[in-house]
Amino acid sequence: RAAGHEVADLTGKHVLVSAGGTREHLDPVRYLGNSSSGKQGYALARIAAARGAKVTLVAANSELPDPAGVQLVPVTSTRDLYDEITSRAADADAIVMAAAPADFRPADVAEHKIKKTADGSVPAVSLVQNPDILQTISHDRGRADQVIVGFGAETGDAEHSVLELGRAKLERKGCDLLVVNDVSGGKVFGSDTNEAVILDRDGGALPVPSGSKDALAGVIWNLVAAHWK
Ligand code: CTP
Ligand code: CA
Repeated sequence: RAAGHEVADLTGKHVLVSAGGTREHLDPVRYLGNSSSGKQGYALARIAAARGAKVTLVAANSELPDPAGVQLVPVTSTRDLYDEITSRAADADAIVMAAAPADFRPADVAEHKIKKTADGSVPAVSLVQNPDILQTISHDRGRADQVIVGFGAETGDAEHSVLELGRAKLERKGCDLLVVNDVSGGKVFGSDTNEAVILDRDGGALPVPSGSKDALAGVIWNLVAAHWK
């Protein structure tokens, strides 16, 4: 089924999608962030709504226009995203974590803007780890019919291929599907196209050829819908 067809096959389902990149503030005006545009998550939300689902989109710092017919919940940090996703998880038939949550946050947030000092000394930033949202919702889920989808941006190395890393990530997270992107050389970020392999828990791997983010979203919803059949 191609994306864009007005087949209302997700009618009656509530889907929760996260998008964008979280920001972890150092002081009121500065943060640690990443270059996720939010495009893939917004495409997932838009396509699900077009196919009849009730959609909640938890969006971190995306500048994209609000998709029509979607409940939008704006967040800033990984902990905000954690709160919004975990509090809504029980009510969702599917959860797709397309956001890029920052793995770490500054241990302390300065109340006022950090100033340079006259002696040229440099502040040290110490980091603490953020909670893992995908792992939490996968491990805590109370329903067998709930489908949980993660994304894994990987750069392979000499020891492990992108797919091996993706397989290990799927196991670690405990999700049903993992959409693996090869991001070696800065591919994917901000781009309008995407190329991926979708791994499932039974060892399956579905390659999705390079195409639009809407097309990849359509394939992801097809696989989610197949779980409900
Ligand atoms: N994710 C999450 N919570 C986090 C970090 C990541 O829910 N704190 C989700 C992402 O939204 C994505 C999946 O987990 O769906 C994989 O993210 P990724 O950054 O690739 O995984 P990490 O476990 O953070 O591993 P890495 O060390 O490779 O960054
Ligand atoms: Ca990460």
